[in-house]
Amino acid sequence: EDTRKGGFPHYMLKEIYEQPQSFYETLRAGVDERVRNLVMEADEITLVACGTSYHTALVFKYLAESLCGIPVRVEMGSEFKYFTPPLHGLVIAVSQSGETADTIAALKMAKARNCPTLAITNMQGSTVTRIADETMLMRAGPEIGVAATKSYTAQLAALMQIVNLRCEGAFDDALSHAHLAIGDVLLQDVHEAVTLCSKAKHVFFVGRGPFYAVALEGALKMKEISYVHAEGYAAGELKHGPFALLTPETPVVAICTPGPTYGVMVSNIKEMKARRAPIIAIGVAGDTELPEIVDIFIPIPDTHLLVQVLTASVVLQLLAYHTACALERDVDKPRNLAKSVTVE
Ligand code: G6P
Repeated sequence: EDTRKGGFPHYMLKEIYEQPQSFYETLRAGVDERVRNLVMEADEITLVACGTSYHTALVFKYLAESLCGIPVRVEMGSEFKYFTPPLHGLVIAVSQSGETADTIAALKMAKARNCPTLAITNMQGSTVTRIADETMLMRAGPEIGVAATKSYTAQLAALMQIVNLRCEGAFDDALSHAHLAIGDVLLQDVHEAVTLCSKAKHVFFVGRGPFYAVALEGALKMKEISYVHAEGYAAGELKHGPFALLTPETPVVAICTPGPTYGVMVSNIKEMKARRAPIIAIGVAGDTELPEIVDIFIPIPDTHLLVQVLTASVVLQLLAYHTACALERDVDKPRNLAKSVTVE
């Protein structure tokens, strides 16, 4: 088993480190003609997914709507079957394993309504590939750790290619360099943030736009493997309730990078500081304002938004992983969880 972990203490860390390659390979695999046609013809896209895959779908929604103007709806597999929305246009099932019962049920509903369907999965020949009209295969390779890591970024590689296609290749350059930036953040020191999180009972993760989806995923990773209660929130929503929970014992991880929401994120962070919550901020290298107002600043490379989504996510994986290790959790096999959930 130790040799299969390739010298890493856990599969999860090995898989975190495999991400530059799995992202690159998934990108390199490209989009075949039939998938391309489906994607180009869609005037509306609905994604169905569960767990971490639901979060990649949500990232896609923010990117596709804001960058290419395609209306996108994201549904949880478990809700979709019983509360099916009116459907129009392409339905994409996103599933690492291709075997998640709730996602399969949702995909079948979409088929029954005669929608064109696409499966994005890591598993060739899996159930979703047999149901969907077309398949886009991620090239993450086998993922052993129960917590999804490299399959998450490989899903983003597939979904970002769809965004890029619909934007006439506008992000070719950004995407082709993404694996290098992912490689850079693997070396990021997160130990100060780990010390804070491993002592906490509750941690909030906040961001806006695609970083809201990244925050949800960061919180899920933290819960899954460290058992520290974590909540992902849209940064602007924290004042509508969770502010009541902020104390010096509840760290807030805030993702705040340059762009239209930078200013409002900075004011959100100041509001949280005023409630005495310690702030761990993920921002871009070279930012001089943010490090001044937060407790811990974790830099990611100053890149295109699409790449920031990836690098910020990887930092949050490292934070969850090292927090779980500090608390001596069973990182690869967290209690009560399964790699793939084949019951509804
Ligand atoms: C389980 C796993 C999660 C995963 C989810 C959806 O809950 O523990 O890591 O995100 O299933 O799995 P899928 O294979 O459909 O992406």
